[in-house]
Amino acid sequence: MRQQIRYTLPRLSLVALMLASQQLNSVYAYACKEKIIVIGAGVSGLAAAKKLHDEGCDVTVLEGRDRLGGRIFTSQVGDLTIDMGASWIHGIGKGADGLKEWENKYNPLYQVTLDNKITTLATWQDEGDTESLYFWYKGGETTYDVGTVFKNFENSLEDLQEEADINTSLKDLYSKYDLTKKTSKGDAKVDQNIKDYTLAYFYGFEYAADADQLSGKYIDNDSYFFGPEHIFPDGYIQIPKALAKNLNVILNQKVTKIDYSKDSVNVITENGKVYEADRVVVTVPLAILKSNMITFTPQLPKSKQDSIEKMGAGLMDKLYLEFEDVFWDEEADWLDYISDGNVKWGITLNYYKYTKKPVLLMFNIGKDAREFAEMSDEDVIKQAMETLRTMYPKATDYVAYKRSNWSHDEFARQAYSFVKIGATKKDPLNIASDIDKKIYFAGEHTNFNFLGSAHGAYISGTDAASKIIEDYNSNFEQSLVSNFMYLRFAF
Ligand SMILES: *[C@@H]1O[C@H](CO)[C@@H](O)[C@H](O)[C@H]1NC(C)=O
Ligand SMILES: *[C@@H]1O[C@H](CO)[C@@H](O)[C@H](O)[C@H]1NC(C)=O
Ligand SMILES: *[C@@H]1O[C@H](CO)[C@@H](O)[C@H](O)[C@H]1NC(C)=O
Repeated sequence: MRQQIRYTLPRLSLVALMLASQQLNSVYAYACKEKIIVIGAGVSGLAAAKKLHDEGCDVTVLEGRDRLGGRIFTSQVGDLTIDMGASWIHGIGKGADGLKEWENKYNPLYQVTLDNKITTLATWQDEGDTESLYFWYKGGETTYDVGTVFKNFENSLEDLQEEADINTSLKDLYSKYDLTKKTSKGDAKVDQNIKDYTLAYFYGFEYAADADQLSGKYIDNDSYFFGPEHIFPDGYIQIPKALAKNLNVILNQKVTKIDYSKDSVNVITENGKVYEADRVVVTVPLAILKSNMITFTPQLPKSKQDSIEKMGAGLMDKLYLEFEDVFWDEEADWLDYISDGNVKWGITLNYYKYTKKPVLLMFNIGKDAREFAEMSDEDVIKQAMETLRTMYPKATDYVAYKRSNWSHDEFARQAYSFVKIGATKKDPLNIASDIDKKIYFAGEHTNFNFLGSAHGAYISGTDAASKIIEDYNSNFEQSLVSNFMYLRFAF
């Protein structure tokens, strides 16, 4: 009998607990009475804001630009809708390499397109499954078996990485790699071109940085979603627009100060407007954090500053050229150019293949992109046309163009981020970590697994929101636990 009583009491309190927590759960939906400010209306900021808004928090998004999207920026060339920043959903899923938590799940950005009936278009079934033509700076297609050269590089990567430390660049990693033994043709000069090209093509264009800047140790150590890669015939901007539905987004608010020295946080704009919040999510790009455009009071912790300093803010710029007619190989995805001693115009996407419009999209990265950013449109396009005429002597003149300039964009100053020599995979995590449960950080630069991608940005945003909800609830539960003690005593 006594036994039974002993067991009954906890059971009773368990029932009470369950009832209480059921009530709590229904309270949770309305529970977040907190004021949260999210800085930045790019994908990470909007993803964080939407999740917090859905939890019932009082969310305001402050955006410096006069538009949504951040480094997603939809534009036009001729009558074709194009994207000047992010273009692809990289792998729609389901599943991501090596990550259990994404098993059987779509890339969350793809999920947004499904939920909002946004049309996407598959460019290829997977990244390795593209048709590429390689052109030689001397004219014509190269006689090299570039595909095999790539494979050899890739196969040797892991062995080379074992010897690398955090200061070994991708270039260092391959410095002793003997290309002549791998191919039968060509002189040393030619080999060097192929090698530079391969490093750029395989990694540089992927990570928006030059081989002497990229960490050799962490290259290729990020994850990716499986499945086909999709673009947006009507523009990537549909994603930020869908996320921003029902959110309070205030444009043209350039934040210059964040004061978190008191209980609540003050966010101050260039025009002197002061916004007060319980918690703030900072989603500005890495290069903006590096630039100190925003003054934090107190200063950011030293270790966070170090990580911001160490990570790399990459650059990739795009040039869209529209022509009267197609003069290139219609079936190829990529028309790739092996240049003389550098990697300028290394990759060109045949947009015709997907849109049936005579448009080419040419890319530059790293120091080449920085050099071009200082040149006039006329001079840059002249070089682009010379390159195209080396590839296709009968290339006609362009009829329209559009060009990105991300390094000079006041609110970006970069394309996407990479692990720079000297940095480690802990640095993104360290940048993401909150300060005093008051200042939280999100953005592609805070997510190592999906660094540099729009889905990485999205996930970092929902992660920051989850952390806030967790912190909010743990406060809430703490106060509840002390109340609950009375309940227990009552039993
Ligand atoms: C990497 O370089 C930094 C700065 O030069 C140095 O302090 C550090 O010891 C180096 N690390 C390794 C593993 O060599
Ligand atoms: C990254 O590197 C670590 C250590 O070498 C390894 O265990 C992990 O599987 C790698 N992850 C990916 C996605 O390549
Ligand atoms: C980029 O912007 C800067 C500043 O507006 C300008 O000086 C430069 O010419 C621009 N370059 C391109 C690529 O448009």
